[in-house]
Amino acid sequence: MRAFATDGFGQAGNIRALPVPDPGEGEVLVRIKAASISMTDLSVMAGHLKDYMEHVFPLIPGIDASGVVEQVGPGVTGFRQGEEVFGFESRQVMGRGTWAELGALPSTSLMPKPSSLDHHEAAVLPHCALTAVAAVDAAGLGPDSLTVLLVATGGVGSFATQLVAKAGGCGIAITRPEYGDYARSLGATDVIDYTTMDPVAAVRELCPEGVDALIDMAGVPELTSALAAEVHPGGKVVSVVMAPDVEALAARHVEGLLTSRWAAQHRFGEITELFPESLKLPAIQTFPFEDVGAAIALQATRHVHGKLAIVLT
Ligand SMILES: NC(=O)c1ccc[n+]([C@@H]2O[C@H](COP(=O)([O-])OP(=O)(O)OC[C@H]3O[C@@H](n4cnc5c(N)ncnc54)[C@H](OP(=O)(O)O)[C@@H]3O)[C@@H](O)[C@H]2O)c1
Repeated sequence: MRAFATDGFGQAGNIRALPVPDPGEGEVLVRIKAASISMTDLSVMAGHLKDYMEHVFPLIPGIDASGVVEQVGPGVTGFRQGEEVFGFESRQVMGRGTWAELGALPSTSLMPKPSSLDHHEAAVLPHCALTAVAAVDAAGLGPDSLTVLLVATGGVGSFATQLVAKAGGCGIAITRPEYGDYARSLGATDVIDYTTMDPVAAVRELCPEGVDALIDMAGVPELTSALAAEVHPGGKVVSVVMAPDVEALAARHVEGLLTSRWAAQHRFGEITELFPESLKLPAIQTFPFEDVGAAIALQATRHVHGKLAIVLT
């Protein structure tokens, strides 16, 4: 099969011929029609997660996939050859990923693909939507909550902004001006242009009494800690990127939390049902598999709004 792979951390990688994975116990071999690209894939390729989970080489990146069941592994029930499915790599191992014509995914994190979603739409959902669910759950928002979303329009932000709106409170989106309309379309009540304004001063002007939560999806340390100062006592600072300064926050009676997709994986089925009626699909830009390098380069700019997907035939 053709797969995109790298031989070491920090290497560019290329499309090459690799053996078709043999689906093991509990795995389903999926002929992949579309896969997502996220910042996490770039972090994996760079080796940023090497101390936290196992990596196998040649390393095939890619967490999410949508496609058709090719073969069911031992012990798997509930899936049949030819069925359209989508899902994600839910194990703590990177490198047996979805940027390939075929991938063996755990049956426990696969679902039948809703007929209302195309493959490239289904493929962009699991990893980032579940990360957003984990973040918004951790923020413990109520109907009157004021929440600052740092990176409101990226892969995770496109879902988190909607979930904050669904919780019923105000979502203040920090994003660049060309994405302001997109942020509002996701339910943001206010938009702060961080490219021309001081976002901290702008938040203070909007919410002089402070905000209830900051959800950090940027991991820009100085900006995150400056905005965290606008969270009032009793509030929460939740990051999906880097651990907040929990002790300094606790001294002000603010709770700091680092969360991840793993905290919400059990909600995959329930969240899937919300698309596309109750939750909108993010903006999606697709690339043919042959152009995966261009997609990686675009993702690396960190100025994508919504999600990128690669499409295989
Ligand atoms: N813990 C987990 O399970 C998990 C899962 C997924 C992702 N993550 C992490 O979460 C982060 C976001 O991932 P993603 O896939 O959503 O990334 P992404 O799509 O690349 O995020 C891009 C967004 O970041 C914004 N941005 C870049 N620099 C900014 C700044 N200085 N201030 C404000 N906004 C800025 C961009 O907005 P503009 O274009 O407006 O600049 C763009 O909308 C990454 O660090 C990723 O590694 C963690």
